[in-house]
Amino acid sequence: MINVGNFFELQIWISFVLCLIYFSFGFTPIDNYLIDCGSFTNTSVDNRVFVSDNSSSIHLFTQQNISANISFSSISSNSNYSALYHTARIFTGPSTYSFPIKQKGRHWIRLHFFPFLYEIYNMSSAKFSVSTQSFTLIREYQSGNNGSLVKEYSLNITSDKLAVTFTPLANSFAFLNAIEFFSLPDELIPQGATTIGSQNGYQNLQKQALETVVRVNMGNQVVSPQTDPLWRLWVADDAFLAHNGLAKFVSNVESVNFTGEKPTEQIAPADVYGTATMLNSEQNPHTNANVTWIFHVDSGFEYLVRFHFCDISNASQPYLFNVYINTWYASHDFNLQNFTTKTKGAPFYMDFIIRVSDSHKLSVSVGPSTTVESYPTAFLNGLEIMKINNSRGSFDVLESESNFSTSSKIRVSLIVGLAAGLFFSIVLVSVLFLLCRRRKKLAQIDHMKAEDKFAMNGGGVTAIFSSTKTGYRFPFVVIREATDNFNESLVIGVGGFGKVYKGVLRDETMVAVKRGGSQSHQGLAEFRTEIEMLSQFRHRHLVSLIGYCDEQDEMIIIYEYMENGTLKDHLYGSNFPSLSWRQRLDVCIGSARGLHYLHTGSTKAIIHRDVKSANILLDANFMAKVADFGLSKTGPDLDQTHVSTAVRGSFGYLDPEYLTRQKLTEKSDVYSFGVVMLEVLCGRPVIDPSLPREEMDLVEWASKCQKSGHLGDIVDPKINNQIKPESLKKFGETAEKCLARCGLDRPSMGDVLWNLEYALQLQGNEEKCSPNGEIPLQTNLVNQSHTTMSISEFSMGGMHDLAGISMSKVFAQMVQEETRESY
Ligand SMILES: *[C@@H]1O[C@H](CO)[C@@H](O)[C@H](O)[C@H]1NC(C)=O
Repeated sequence: MINVGNFFELQIWISFVLCLIYFSFGFTPIDNYLIDCGSFTNTSVDNRVFVSDNSSSIHLFTQQNISANISFSSISSNSNYSALYHTARIFTGPSTYSFPIKQKGRHWIRLHFFPFLYEIYNMSSAKFSVSTQSFTLIREYQSGNNGSLVKEYSLNITSDKLAVTFTPLANSFAFLNAIEFFSLPDELIPQGATTIGSQNGYQNLQKQALETVVRVNMGNQVVSPQTDPLWRLWVADDAFLAHNGLAKFVSNVESVNFTGEKPTEQIAPADVYGTATMLNSEQNPHTNANVTWIFHVDSGFEYLVRFHFCDISNASQPYLFNVYINTWYASHDFNLQNFTTKTKGAPFYMDFIIRVSDSHKLSVSVGPSTTVESYPTAFLNGLEIMKINNSRGSFDVLESESNFSTSSKIRVSLIVGLAAGLFFSIVLVSVLFLLCRRRKKLAQIDHMKAEDKFAMNGGGVTAIFSSTKTGYRFPFVVIREATDNFNESLVIGVGGFGKVYKGVLRDETMVAVKRGGSQSHQGLAEFRTEIEMLSQFRHRHLVSLIGYCDEQDEMIIIYEYMENGTLKDHLYGSNFPSLSWRQRLDVCIGSARGLHYLHTGSTKAIIHRDVKSANILLDANFMAKVADFGLSKTGPDLDQTHVSTAVRGSFGYLDPEYLTRQKLTEKSDVYSFGVVMLEVLCGRPVIDPSLPREEMDLVEWASKCQKSGHLGDIVDPKINNQIKPESLKKFGETAEKCLARCGLDRPSMGDVLWNLEYALQLQGNEEKCSPNGEIPLQTNLVNQSHTTMSISEFSMGGMHDLAGISMSKVFAQMVQEETRESY
């Protein structure tokens, strides 16, 4: 028999053991603030104690506030947190909760709103903003409905305290039912992720705040905060499925095997990885359909999308399928086995960033791979979508970057409404609207495209500096003067790194000034790499460094100015004049030479890692120079042992071998260069979602055409009649070799160069005029002289390169004079 005393002992013992279990398997945040607002007593929810904000331990700075109480019977929320929703605090003036920080880094802040009526305060109609020191979390809270609302944000906290401020809008008040604020495990939020459908291959997240839009458990099972190690709610996916006819919910939680693998239960618990939604092809072995989930999001923002995968089936064959975000490939022929060491039950997740500009939808699909012949399968276990704050540090649509187009939309619809009877006005307005949107779109495209790279022939200047390393360092005041105090009208490009300004130094050298936006680790590392690389290497086909500035946390790089912008701009998507076939060959030869020099010019090979048409710049003579060395690395001897988890580079150009095995060699650059060659030949983007599926992926489509001998059919119409068949054949074969699946089968950059020179020879020397006769005579002259120059400069010695720089400068002047004469 157990007497009362023993019973208590037993209880204490049990709780002690439970505590031990909890601490060894659960997560204990260093900073952990849980507050039940407006309550006079502490409230316990799932073993977590929410402290009353009347308690002295809570720092609440407020002049006017009221503790509001709701009668128990009117609680209608069946949320886990409903115990917290009996009370609220009402703020009639600006009020701040202040939380001292013990551990810097990522934290979650969860705000709980459960509006009810208290005396004269109808919380459903409260209007207020919520902000921290650096971010606007909510610009204008408007609930309207009566359910509970939990808003979750992840902030990287670098100061000693976090202040959360509630500010009522005019004649209104603010309220809050509960707040959770706690540290997160480091691994939870990535430093950055691959960007889909944009120029910025990789976006740095370190300084950004994220707002959780949705957290979904596929397999249509809710995972509640009690069972999640970080008290997250995972909602069921059924409600988001586009058409669920072919979707099948499966569950096998026992098969999830965390041990020894990278994602831990803190990324997502076994309950999430152990259920999935699958494409059901049992009825029809030739099923060709996607399983698609559609989410409502605000346009004008970037979103971090995290996919969770885990093979919980008993199938003997690995599954192979495609993963899409909107219409972009997130992963082509995704094979989980390539990412996990264990075949079955090993969880895996991958992150992407995508900008949503024109719609309010973000869709995610998994669907059959073309390489699977029958009974295709595709599955997904979990998905998280997080909104990234905009450049103004806000999550609010009203402040989003597409604000302009949204407000113009509203304006237009108003006008249309008013002028309903006047047919003429409607037509006029719609035309204006369309023009406006088009211009806005073009502007956006330009904006994204221009990126970090422009420069010119500062030949003489660079030669002077190359002898003394310290000579590169520029005082901040000089740069400020050169750019007219960073005048916005001089911005020639905006990239992930920051803005690029056109500047003029005192000696009248034109320069491109890249100013880093943030002193983040990532940015700093890339800044250093770029300066190191550029100051080591001097080549007429690599963009030259003129100087840099690191005064007062500034990260500024000064390059030679390149008159004609990026190669990409001259191929598609802009109004720049298009290049002739000969010019295109010259550009390919020039950039191949630059890359060849990188790979072989010193004892250790340098891998560029971000070869793309937007990183090849053209000077006044359309001479190509390779730019942007922020990601460059010495390799491969350094990298054979080092397997970096973050795949860097640009979507569409990435070597498949690097993607799957993270094996980085010079041949990764060769692959990307092959992609550039196809862009050059076909005059279209690498991924073009507006085209039929078969043609969307340039590499896939061109390889197919090349194999069937129809490459000629997809040549850019603007140059189609200039290309000689032999030249095309050589060019096509070379590109094909560059794009070989296996790095070992790809030629070296030197071989590529040789083949391109040969293709140029096959094209012959006589110039054909462009069909519309638009190419001015001077340009042809330039090209011919270039060809002769390039033959004599085949070797890569340093002396030649310096000679090359000054020669091309002289040449530029000659051409400019000629141009002036003819106009
Ligand atoms: C699956 O979705 C992608 C992206 O939207 C689309 O390109 C593809 O054609 C779809 N596949 C099928 C079979 O509908």
